[in-house]
Formats: sequence, structure tokens, C-alpha cells
Amino acid sequence: MTRQATAVAHPNIALAKYWGKLPGAGNVPAVPSLSVTLAGMSTTTTVSFDENLVRDELVLNGVREVDSRALFRASELLDRVRVSAGVTARARVVSDNDFPTASGLASSASGFAALALAATKAADLDWSREQVAELARRSSASAARSLFDGFAELDGGVEDGIPSAGRARSVAPPSALDVRVLVCVTTEAPKSTSSTDGMRITQETSPYYAAWVSDAPLAHRQLREALLAGDFGRVGALAERSALAMHACAMAAGIVYVTGPTLDALAHVRVLRDRGLLVFATMDAGPHLKCLVRAADADAARTELARIVGVRRVLETTPGAGARILDASPERPR
Ligand code: DP6
Repeated sequence: MTRQATAVAHPNIALAKYWGKLPGAGNVPAVPSLSVTLAGMSTTTTVSFDENLVRDELVLNGVREVDSRALFRASELLDRVRVSAGVTARARVVSDNDFPTASGLASSASGFAALALAATKAADLDWSREQVAELARRSSASAARSLFDGFAELDGGVEDGIPSAGRARSVAPPSALDVRVLVCVTTEAPKSTSSTDGMRITQETSPYYAAWVSDAPLAHRQLREALLAGDFGRVGALAERSALAMHACAMAAGIVYVTGPTLDALAHVRVLRDRGLLVFATMDAGPHLKCLVRAADADAARTELARIVGVRRVLETTPGAGARILDASPERPR
């Protein structure tokens, strides 16, 4: 017998960044973060628990993973699901991204969000979105935010001496802010240092890490307020500041994700702003620059960004829906 479910999830881009973890095994962030879930790019994942399998299998973008880190991380998540559901069967996971994988376009966010949702559904667990987000967070913290529509936040850090439980929740629907996200794709290649390694090295060696951790909660709160007020200019300015602070902190530890085209695009964003076009930039653990712009300015900004040497293409996305089940067959013969 096979129990199978398919889920789709979208990447999210953090406006207030997560970078660094609390001590312990729960993968709880050291700072709170706030993101926008993007329509347009997606991961579709099917999980089938099958008594006839001897080990978990993962086919990622058509390629069968053998002894890889991706397979190990997927198995860890599946083990947690098996324990909760009392399932012993191994699983076959087939996952496809319609955008570059592991290059800083948040494929781990959409990947683990889709996997967590499909696996819990296939195992017949009747979990809330928050519970599925918690499962996703343990594999990749940013994935917890991709469970939710529009704007979502993920707790982190220590408040009044109490360590955060790392809960994620929805903050506002996609319609809360007039914003388009323009992704300037600078390479199709995978990034050189994973976010997990990058933040560990930052935490261990950046002289600015303590400053980052103490500054981030206020930055997150201010961004949340600006978002709920629908203030695009303030959200954009705070998002750019959060990205620059995160990268400055990481760079001081020798972790450099930006390349020449990233910085050229960033410089151009600032020129455009000086000329009166309200556009802001953010960057994650990869070389792509993501620009925030209002809908009415998206075409003008896109034309400008596409002209930059080293920007291969510009993807335009909008705030979109959280992860969802596409298809579930609770129990059917093989
Ligand atoms: C720069 O969620 O990929 O995109 O929890 O170790 O899997 P792990 O890290 P991950 O880190 C994302 C970092 C970021 C900022 C963000 O999304 O908040």
C-alpha cells in the first residue's frame, strides 16, 4: 500500500533577515525575521510512503540523489514525521523547482515547506499550519515562513532571558503592501557556502555578530509596523538596511555572497532612487539582487535592471500564497 500526497510551496524573501541560531538542536533563529512569500516560483513535491522501500529515496529536479546532504536532510524530516504518525514505511520523494536550486533563491525554503506539508499529509497527520511550520523550521528555518500566505514572521532570539521557541505565523495577507519583487538572476550556478555554514562561521568569527543580534529585534519590529501601515518607502528602506547589516556581519567573517554584478545592480538601485524611482534592494545567501518596487514602477525598474552587464534575466514576482496540498491519496494499492 502507498500513502501519497503532493504539495506546492513558494520561496520567500526575508525583508528582516534571519542570520544566526540559538544554541541547541532545534534550529531556532537567533533573531526574529519577517518575509514575503513569492508567487511565480515554486517547488512541487510528492511524498509516497511505501512498505516495499528499504530506504528513503529522493529525486530532485529529475536527478536521483545518492548519499547526498539533500537526501540526509529529507530523511531527517521524514523520521520526525514517522515518529509522530507511527509510520514505519520509507518514502519516495520527488521534488521539482521551476527556478535555480541552491543558488540563493530560497529553494531550501520552498523545498522544506513543500516536503513538510506533503509528508505530514501523506502520513495522515492532522496538523495545523503552525505545527507544519515548526517541522519545516527544524530542517531549514526560513522554510517555516513559506507555509503562510503573503507576509510571515519567524520568532527568534532571547527576550527577558527566555529563549524563543521559533514559532512562525502569518502577519499580513499578500494585499497588505503594494510591492513587486524583481529578482536579478546573476548566475544559474549553486552558491559556494550554504546558509547553514555561512551563519555558523559568522557566529563563530564575525566581530560584528553581537551587534547584529542586538540590532535585529528593533529592526524587525519597525519593519512589521511599516508593513502593517502599508508604508512601502519605509518597508523598502528597512529591508535594504537589514540585508546590508546581515552581509556586513557575514563579510567580516570572510563570508562573501555578493559578486560584481550584485554590487553593480545595488549601485544602480541607488542611482535610480536618487533619480526619484522608489526601488530598494535586498540580498540573501547568494549573488542575486532582489529589488522591491511598487507595481506602477515595476516596468521602469525592470528595464533598467535588465540593462546591467552580468544580470542574466529579471524575474518579476508578487506576494503570493503559502504552501498547499495539490493532491492526496491517503491509501491506495501500488
Ligand atoms: C539569508 O533558512 O537557509 O535567506 O536554517 O540553516 O537552513 P538554515 O538556514 P536558511 O537561512 C536563510 C538565510 C537568509 C535570510 C532569511 O531567509 O531570513
